[in-house]
Amino acid sequence: MPRIYIETYGCQMNVSDSELILGVLGRNGYTPTDDPSVADVILVNTCAVRDHAEQKVLSRMGELKRFKQPTAVLGVVGCMAQRLGPRLLERVPQVDLVVGPDGYRGLPELIARVRGGERAADVEFRRWEHYEDVPPVRNTPISAFVTVQRGCDYRCTFCIVPMTRGPERSRMLDDVVREVTDLAHSGTTEVTLLGQTVNSYDDGAHDFADLLRAVGAVAGLRRLRFTSPYPTDFSERVITAMAETAAVCEHVHLPVQSGSSRVLKRMLRRYDRARYLEVVASLRRAIPAIALTTDIIVGFPGETEADFQETLSLVDAVAFDDAYTFKYSPREGTPATRLKDAVPDDVAGERLERLVAAVRAVARRKNVALVGSTHEVLVEGRAKRGDFLQGRTRTNKVALIGGGPDAWIGQYRDVRLTGTTGSTFTAVPLGRGQELAVVG
Ligand code: SAH
Ligand code: F3S
Repeated sequence: MPRIYIETYGCQMNVSDSELILGVLGRNGYTPTDDPSVADVILVNTCAVRDHAEQKVLSRMGELKRFKQPTAVLGVVGCMAQRLGPRLLERVPQVDLVVGPDGYRGLPELIARVRGGERAADVEFRRWEHYEDVPPVRNTPISAFVTVQRGCDYRCTFCIVPMTRGPERSRMLDDVVREVTDLAHSGTTEVTLLGQTVNSYDDGAHDFADLLRAVGAVAGLRRLRFTSPYPTDFSERVITAMAETAAVCEHVHLPVQSGSSRVLKRMLRRYDRARYLEVVASLRRAIPAIALTTDIIVGFPGETEADFQETLSLVDAVAFDDAYTFKYSPREGTPATRLKDAVPDDVAGERLERLVAAVRAVARRKNVALVGSTHEVLVEGRAKRGDFLQGRTRTNKVALIGGGPDAWIGQYRDVRLTGTTGSTFTAVPLGRGQELAVVG
């Protein structure tokens, strides 16, 4: 049987797409391997959102070339493949195959063509493509990503995603519910719904509120998450559905990008600072214990020190539980590359450092206040270090639990948080387990 090795970079959508690729190749007789040196096909599923992500992949291609068997097929898939297309074949001689996010169904045939001596690229957009008939091959039964929407119709001026993933389209609600029902039957209790602006979900008959209620009603599903929503797509209907659906977890990742209305306008985000804060207030009114995380870009063209101060003050005003912070990276073909007043790299770098410190300080303050509280965690596995199990609260906080047995993996436990590094927690199980933790 031929063996497939796949390495995944970037967002959760790519993780989910890699599971689909394994599904497509699986029904064509391939088995997955985690050793590139024995693989017949090596695929790298790539991200194009920042230049740094692409540079990493390019250097990785050099390394993989050294590991791989001479006859193995080396392919680049995902957003960087879509962005560069056949240009990637010209630039990187060791690459045999380039396939964008809508072309995975054709992989077996394309691989066959490469075996026949060709170098192949497929970067066509296929609006209809949802891989509905492909059973994803997931590597854990505990928690699953379920893509409900592909592409993006927003036009944030910094972002390459609309160019790499094409137009927005939603899967039919019934198809999503069927997939989640099958997952629940096989023991999965946590699902994360994925889309670039997932709460603008619209299958022609249902909106995101309908989807949350329908998926939340699946028997056996205990935790429902979604990422990433767009701030202004949190309608009252959606927020009410979140509050009324028991499985929906108390965590929202709410990308803000900047705290300055002037910068938000140049980014073509569809809200200003005040509107974003209103969305935060509505979410907190409906779900008081909600944890909020975000994405922030610094050094966007034209960003002044005063604009940046507004970002810092927003971090304080919202008191985010965590934030992914990025230095603006110009992406070829995006509107922001035509904006004047580029921010010098050293200025952007220095702002990034200050922002990271501000985010850490707020997160630490919030997390220290949580020490002593009790939470239900889903135990996901062994922690990388020490004799700990790793679990996650509904608010998406990571807790390391001392002394528990492997049998707890996949189960829900009530724990008390006993300490924090500022970002993650230590915890002890409540009740009988508490003695175990002391002994263990
Ligand atoms: N809608 C998607 C956005 C994908 S990009 C989502 O929310 O998951 C993920 C994040 O990368 C964005 O929220 C943004 O903060 C960051 N990003 C996108 N383009 C960027 C660029 N050109 N430079 C720096 N960061 C960028
Ligand atoms: Fe990118 Fe904005 Fe869509 S960040 S993915 S264009 S919502």
